[in-house]
Amino acid sequence: MTMPSNLCPNRMQIHSIIKETSDVWTINLINHDFYTYSPGQYALVSIKNSEDVMRAYTLSSSPGKSRFISITVRRLDDGVGSNWLTRAVKPGDYLWLSEAQGEFTCANVNSHQYLMLAAGCGVTPIMSMTRWLMANRPETNVKVLFNVRDAQQVIFAEEWQQLTNIYPDRLQLCIMAENPDNGGITEGRLNEEKLKVLVPDIASRVVMTCGPVPYMKNAQKLAENLSVPAEHFFMERFSTEPEAVNNEDVLTLKIRHRLIDFKVPVGTSLLSALEQNKQPVIAACRAGVCGSCKTKVLSGNYTTTSTMTLTQDEIDAGYVLACSCQLQSDVEIA
Ligand code: FES
Repeated sequence: MTMPSNLCPNRMQIHSIIKETSDVWTINLINHDFYTYSPGQYALVSIKNSEDVMRAYTLSSSPGKSRFISITVRRLDDGVGSNWLTRAVKPGDYLWLSEAQGEFTCANVNSHQYLMLAAGCGVTPIMSMTRWLMANRPETNVKVLFNVRDAQQVIFAEEWQQLTNIYPDRLQLCIMAENPDNGGITEGRLNEEKLKVLVPDIASRVVMTCGPVPYMKNAQKLAENLSVPAEHFFMERFSTEPEAVNNEDVLTLKIRHRLIDFKVPVGTSLLSALEQNKQPVIAACRAGVCGSCKTKVLSGNYTTTSTMTLTQDEIDAGYVLACSCQLQSDVEIA
């Protein structure tokens, strides 16, 4: 079987597929070669073993601790990658993965105290890091606050239970749900009052968060308000959750060469804005890694979460990666 893309040179065989919740599965992979990764990192997966469609998934396993290399995937209604991975592939099939990517890892952070904030499928790197910290840094204390919709949506429920039983003094888990329908789950959303009560020593902890972008931005603001130094706060740069832009403010996106414009909510990614308005755009990884969605912005304000494949000259000239560019004001692209 030939390598579909230079970006995904690692062939791995599916050992087993585990259903975590009604719409989340963990795919356990046997890797016949050496594969180096750090807890919390992600990899691109070639979808349908094709050259030009890749998706990024967190490696939910932990290096040196887990039996398999694992990815955990939430099935999205119109997700090309997630539908293939959760409906079509089966044990014995092969997947092609990139090298491990990403800076969101506790391996390079020197701390004995962590607060992990996760929402939904954002718990995947948090589990990878927590498992690794428990096994490799015996002096470390970890608090995990995990936000879910309801008790049925707790990804890795059994393993969380096991870990908290094995490490009762070093690991505290609090599961929070807006609709707690089961004992042991705290009601509500993440807010300042809850954090003050649940994590009174937050200012002395390294805070790491992963989840939908609005959740992570809220976590960042709360951490800032509660005196967590900026250098002790880390958030994942990509999200496999569907983009949840819930903003009444709208902006105008103009496409100069097509002489058209659209209204989109402030904060939408340029890639989503183009796709939602049926404009042609190439996007392979959707994670700011492959460079296929490079687009030139002529005017307007935006923020970026990745410029990984761009040169400084390109950035100065207004080029962005559409998947990693959040629109903040009226914007015109070439
Ligand atoms: S789709 Fe790969 S960088 Fe945007």
